[in-house]
Amino acid sequence: MSGNGSAAPREFAASSSKRLTLVRGRGATLWDESGRAYIDLGATHGVGNLGSAPPEVVRAIEAQAAELLYLGSGYANPVRTAFIGRLLSLLPSSFGSVFLSNSGTEAAEAALKIARSATGRTRVVAAMRGFHGRTMGALSATWRKELKEPFEPLVPGFVHVPYNDVAALEAAVDDSTALVLLEPVQGEGGVHVATEAYLRAARAVTERTGALLAFDEVQTGLGRTGRMFAFERWGVVPDLLLLAKSLAGGLPVGATVVASEVVPRFRGSHHSTFGGNPLVCAAGLASLDLLVREKLPERADRLGARGLERLGVMPPEKVREVRGLGLMIGVEFRNRVAPYLAALESRGFLAISAGSTVMRLLPPLVISDEEWDAGLGAIAEVVARG
Ligand SMILES: Cc1ncc(COP(=O)(O)O)c(C=O)c1O
Repeated sequence: MSGNGSAAPREFAASSSKRLTLVRGRGATLWDESGRAYIDLGATHGVGNLGSAPPEVVRAIEAQAAELLYLGSGYANPVRTAFIGRLLSLLPSSFGSVFLSNSGTEAAEAALKIARSATGRTRVVAAMRGFHGRTMGALSATWRKELKEPFEPLVPGFVHVPYNDVAALEAAVDDSTALVLLEPVQGEGGVHVATEAYLRAARAVTERTGALLAFDEVQTGLGRTGRMFAFERWGVVPDLLLLAKSLAGGLPVGATVVASEVVPRFRGSHHSTFGGNPLVCAAGLASLDLLVREKLPERADRLGARGLERLGVMPPEKVREVRGLGLMIGVEFRNRVAPYLAALESRGFLAISAGSTVMRLLPPLVISDEEWDAGLGAIAEVVARG
């Protein structure tokens, strides 16, 4: 049998062979192989809320790596206990328990199993344009047809209703519904912000029918929207909260936070070998401390408001709408977004898309005022020239 050593290494399902190669990061700056610097306006996909390589988190990882890298969840560990305690201390007192995994999609899978088990029902109501991950359960809750069709049949029992349509939501939820799963701001679906009336209706209809309510804050969580958790904006508290992305400062993590009232209703088992390992918990603890100490949610609120204001004056013949919350902003163009992203990249700014016409801005919350202003200026410039 011959080896594969001479062939160029290929990453399975990589999005493009012409991708920029980035090798180093500090704060909101990323460097390519030739040493050219780029400002991250979304390149870390909402993971880098604290920027790249935040020194406190790096120190915590180094210290923990030297102490204990891995421990099965059958054993207690003070770092895991401290991380879970710190996370719960930032949440309303109705939350009592945390399941730790390794990604956003796993946080969603756990929520689906908890909801089925706690309610004895199987029906799930999710939203059109919603995104919850790519494993089979989370994918079933995800909206986009082209992500799902090649893998059908998916998990049965999922229905999708128009986002922000109170009547459609109320009509879809009944006493066979296990779970209503919503993003407070839809990220992958194009940056659409929930209305207060919609989230309040979701809370009321789930209470009335005995379904559970889950908010997927994988992208909105941890300061991104100008609050530690987006749901704080509306004061609507779910039964299950899904977190991942930035929770451990850049290390892989997922968390499903569960209301105390739901915990004893769970029957069966759920587990992840790597979930809650001491290394990630040490990074998570340091990340939460940093978010609170540096008041990063307030910073996201302030910089986000400035961004919405400055981007809001772009020419309406090119820009259909600018929307968002905190440092989660979508710019919807009348034409394809790809040329604008390429023009930004050539100027040293990296933003991402959400669908074919929306530019998504998810800069680190530690981005400096000057870097953010430069990014906003560059966007205005490429739009003016495009
Ligand atoms: C709202 C939301 N939920 C779930 C996920 C899935 O997370 P992961 O890619 O870590 O599985 C994502 C990823 O973008 C997301 O934005």
